[in-house]
Amino acid sequence: MGLGMTLGSHLTPLARSHIQRADVVFAGLSDAIVEVWLGRMHPDVRSLQPCYAEGKSRLKTYREWVELMMTEVRAGKRVCGVFYGHPGIFAWSPHKAIKAARAEGYEAHMEPGISAEDCLYADLGIDPGRYGCQHFEASQLLFYERRIENTGYLVLWQVAHAGDWSLGISRTGPAYRQVLVDLLARDYPLDHPVIVYRAATLPIQQPRIRRIALRDLPQVPLSAEETVVLPPAAAMKPNRAVLDRIEALDRLEAGAKT
Ligand SMILES: C[S@@+](CC[C@H](N)C(=O)[O-])C[C@H]1O[C@@H](n2cnc3c(N)ncnc32)[C@H](O)[C@@H]1O
Repeated sequence: MGLGMTLGSHLTPLARSHIQRADVVFAGLSDAIVEVWLGRMHPDVRSLQPCYAEGKSRLKTYREWVELMMTEVRAGKRVCGVFYGHPGIFAWSPHKAIKAARAEGYEAHMEPGISAEDCLYADLGIDPGRYGCQHFEASQLLFYERRIENTGYLVLWQVAHAGDWSLGISRTGPAYRQVLVDLLARDYPLDHPVIVYRAATLPIQQPRIRRIALRDLPQVPLSAEETVVLPPAAAMKPNRAVLDRIEALDRLEAGAKT
């Protein structure tokens, strides 16, 4: 289940009903307050947070989450894993748990939730269909040869952990983010505007939107709950070759009709 980003207001009636009908609920949430709130909906809510530890790979933690959920599934229970945002967006264990359950012959379903991505479009007034929009996990963008398309939006996730091979829980520092800036500087000028965005997680909060220059990204304090957005840096270029082909097809179609 996805609980959405903002406590209370993003929970769908369907997600609520799945939670209430479960025998056991596992919670991978952003905030202890959200866990308390979830606890009012079900008598057996088990936090997945204690599996995290300093110096321990997040991947190990996420494997443990899958195992915890699968142990209850194998015991014949109706299990609900509740995650903040959308459970399938930049989230490893919900996909894995569903796959594992299905592989063992159990029925499993993912119920979407409002993600940081959805909030970002609303709060920043971005329509991904206007210029296109690429999403990358920041470390993956650093570790692999990827092609950035700077005529569309670029959304970078987990920038606070950029360059962390260990997949630990601590954030990497300015030197790592400088590597990211140097990589981005191949496609963007250093004074290009960058938006550091945090969606509201409590109803009393406002979204936090900081606009900085790309060159300043290493120095700004960055929490693990922030997403970085680069607006387009160049205009889209017409694809002459494809346009010529389409025009030729249009002429053919028009000729066939006369
Ligand atoms: C493991 S992913 C989880 C994303 C989540 N499943 C979702 O649907 O939004 C964590 C990343 O999500 C983004 N994120 C988490 N909380 C956020 C918030 N409150 N505002 C903006 N981005 C957030 C950040 O990029 C963070 O590094």
